Amino acid sequence: MDRVPTGIDGLDELIEGGIPRRRMILVSGSTGTGKTIFSSQFIYRGATDYNEPGIFVTLDERPDTIREDMLQFGWDFRKLEEKGMIRIIDGTVSRVGIPSEEEYSLPETGFNLDKLLVEIIKSIKEMGAKRLVVDSLPALGFKYDTEVEIRKAILKMSYVLSRSGVTSIVTTEIPENSGTYSKYGVEEYVADGLIVLRYGALGGQTTRTLHVRKMRATKHSEHIHPLEITRERGIVVYPIDEV
Ligand SMILES: Nc1ncnc2c1ncn2[C@@H]1O[C@H](COP(=O)(O)OP(=O)(O)OP(=O)(O)O)[C@@H](O)[C@H]1O
Ligand SMILES: [Mg+2]
Repeated sequence: MDRVPTGIDGLDELIEGGIPRRRMILVSGSTGTGKTIFSSQFIYRGATDYNEPGIFVTLDERPDTIREDMLQFGWDFRKLEEKGMIRIIDGTVSRVGIPSEEEYSLPETGFNLDKLLVEIIKSIKEMGAKRLVVDSLPALGFKYDTEVEIRKAILKMSYVLSRSGVTSIVTTEIPENSGTYSKYGVEEYVADGLIVLRYGALGGQTTRTLHVRKMRATKHSEHIHPLEITRERGIVVYPIDEV
């Protein structure tokens, strides 16, 4: 099977070398667990280490704050955007109905999933993108009432993206202490994989962990692995026996 290396140190070893190509996986976690850094690293390393152009659709954070935040890891998004290796699509302003100052953005009115997908497909074709991130799914503000409709919407998204040839990461939130894996409690069933990021406190110490909860077509690690966010390498995942 053709696999896409994530660019996250220590992660590919846990999933037989990477994410199955053209699949859509979810990265879920509560606030501050590293979802945005994780997905930025996937796009950045994809462009620099694997020569794969990538698209980052941001619905939560403004493109400028992402560029600024990622610079602290030495990841110069601007430079790669100029080379056509990375494209950030601004979906933040369309959610509140004001025009974007960004080169690539979603229409400022009538924001919905179909318009988002049209915009994404256009960009994939223009730049030959191989990787895609949507950060975050709940920010799409689904106005669907039933579980069935939410499932349908996410299935549509994964189907369209897969046909366009990209391997995608979609982030979702876990409500704190909810005992669920995702915002709607259904998206993990539709996605091809689920990686859960956690931030916990243990005896006065805080620990970050990563758990590959599901990865279709993959014999993946079933352990909960320690994770670190570092200036030098971004997110780093450790084998279980190094705890
Ligand atoms: N240089 C750094 N070194 C260590 N930790 C860092 C560094 N920069 C950021 N962090 C950690 O990463 C967190 C932010 O990560 P990120 O924005 O990816 O989280 P998130 O899951 O996307 O959160 P949100 O729910 O707000 O979108 C910060 O709260 C901080 O704990
Ligand atoms: Mg985030």
